[in-house]
Amino acid sequence: MSAVDFDELRSRFRLPDGKVYLDGNSLGALPTHTAERLYEVISTEWAVDLVSGWNTKQWIDLPLSVGDQIAPIIGATMGNVVCCDSLSINLFKALTACLEVNKGRSLITLEDGQFPSDSYIADGLSQLLGSDRCRTQAIDVTALTPGILSESAVLLLSHVDYKSGSLRDMHTITSMAQSVGCLVIWDLAHSAGAIDIDLEASHVDFAVGCTYKFLNGGPGAPGFLYVAKRHQEVQNALPGWMGHARLFDFEAKYEAAPGIKRFLTGTQSVLALSAVSASLSVFEGLAMQDVRAQSLALTRHFITLWKQSSVLQSHTTIVTPIDEAQRGSQVSLALEDAFPVSQALIADGVIVDFREPNILRFGFSPLYNTLSDAEQAIASFESVLASERYRLPQFQIRSTVT
Ligand SMILES: Cc1ncc(COP(=O)(O)O)c(C=O)c1O
Repeated sequence: MSAVDFDELRSRFRLPDGKVYLDGNSLGALPTHTAERLYEVISTEWAVDLVSGWNTKQWIDLPLSVGDQIAPIIGATMGNVVCCDSLSINLFKALTACLEVNKGRSLITLEDGQFPSDSYIADGLSQLLGSDRCRTQAIDVTALTPGILSESAVLLLSHVDYKSGSLRDMHTITSMAQSVGCLVIWDLAHSAGAIDIDLEASHVDFAVGCTYKFLNGGPGAPGFLYVAKRHQEVQNALPGWMGHARLFDFEAKYEAAPGIKRFLTGTQSVLALSAVSASLSVFEGLAMQDVRAQSLALTRHFITLWKQSSVLQSHTTIVTPIDEAQRGSQVSLALEDAFPVSQALIADGVIVDFREPNILRFGFSPLYNTLSDAEQAIASFESVLASERYRLPQFQIRSTVT
């Protein structure tokens, strides 16, 4: 049995009364300590130290120090992770770095149905560099073979697919790609903070992720970039003064800082990084294997209840793998009228989200969701479908964010 007191962990979060929050895979909940820390940074650091805070409060070091807080959560060595910019921008840096490391090759392989921003960045890079230097191919990830990758410079995959919630075998896929000379970038958006990851043991080349989902860093919190030590001599395609070896010498010529620091570009938000740092402290002392076990206990319970419900069996099909080795930290169900059903569930206090064309995502955040959340969600889901109240006009209206 796990030694982790998950009730105590849950008590560290500010969760809305009377609601079941199952959208931590989109935006993580607020740790109480983070709210206090942000107020402290504003009132005792920014207000008092003003510009000297860059030195006195070590604001200048935050991208690297927060990177070092993320490192143990994703199985990275300290000094191999930087927290900055967004996942999308960090992906641009990682892709260009791979094309430089793997100079003889120009092909980026990604998966059909990849999170759109990832494909936009890859295709945008191809347009920028021209097809001689960069082109893309989309493949079916379930049919991945060494042959498909034999001409690729880099394979870009999501560790957990954002729609289906399927978890990919990082270790096997990375070594398959590398056996034919292809580098690998993993998008950890839906796994960092919920799954036990070991980037170093899997010999991963690059990884990108965001801190606003299972890491609870806050809306629009910065992304992170992992670069294996062996690739840290490569050029950052977005060189800026924050990645310079001597930034306050203001030299006309760029000289990259040693190590991961060169992957910085411009000034980062101290408030945003302070919030991420405070939220990450919730993970201190936790073994990610225990976090993963809790995540599986939650999704397993939800799936068991779903199987027992005749209403849900007749209206929905499961998209997320039943096989636990292939399941991330969400359960996705496909159904007709998925969007209005999501709105009726939210009105009932069960916060879920909808993804095109017909998917409801129930995200389980191991640090604060409970078995009772799964039970309440299933009961509410049955009631929404049986009563057909999702057909009401107010549940048909779409906002920008679904
Ligand atoms: C799998 C995946 N990749 C990339 C992104 C884009 O991240 P960002 O908007 O922080 O650049 C997201 C955002 O939700 C995502 O879920």
